[in-house]
Amino acid sequence: MESQKTRRLVAKARAARRKACAPYSKFRVGAALLTVGGKVYRGCNIENASYGLTVCAERVAFFNAISAGERRFVAIAIVSDAAATPCGACRQVMAEFAPSLKILVTDTKRHGPVKTFLLDELLPNRFSL
Ligand code: THU
Repeated sequence: MESQKTRRLVAKARAARRKACAPYSKFRVGAALLTVGGKVYRGCNIENASYGLTVCAERVAFFNAISAGERRFVAIAIVSDAAATPCGACRQVMAEFAPSLKILVTDTKRHGPVKTFLLDELLPNRFSL
């Protein structure tokens, strides 16, 4: 992916982070998921007083896109203070819909990615049926 496209995706993930609903952890995360057709779907983390019901930004972005009828994805940008990599549950959801997904991780200060991964590096030998 060329760098301008990457920066645009990161900017959308940063905008998505502003919508985060994280009153318990205060750890705000934004994600922007790019489809093969060039559309971008956003997600933010949404927490709950019953902590285990919290959903990560990455899964919200995926479910947003899937529920709009999208099935083919190129890359996801993820923004948080700590340039956090996706949790195990999100990796498994990504693997279901986008086994060759490119994952761009960055913090809130940068315009480009800090780290870039392929899903296969983050979740080798994944479970599938
Ligand atoms: N979180 C995400 O949204 N994505 C990640 O990749 C890791 C964690 C959220 C869940 C929770 O709201 C907060 O960050 C702290 O774990």
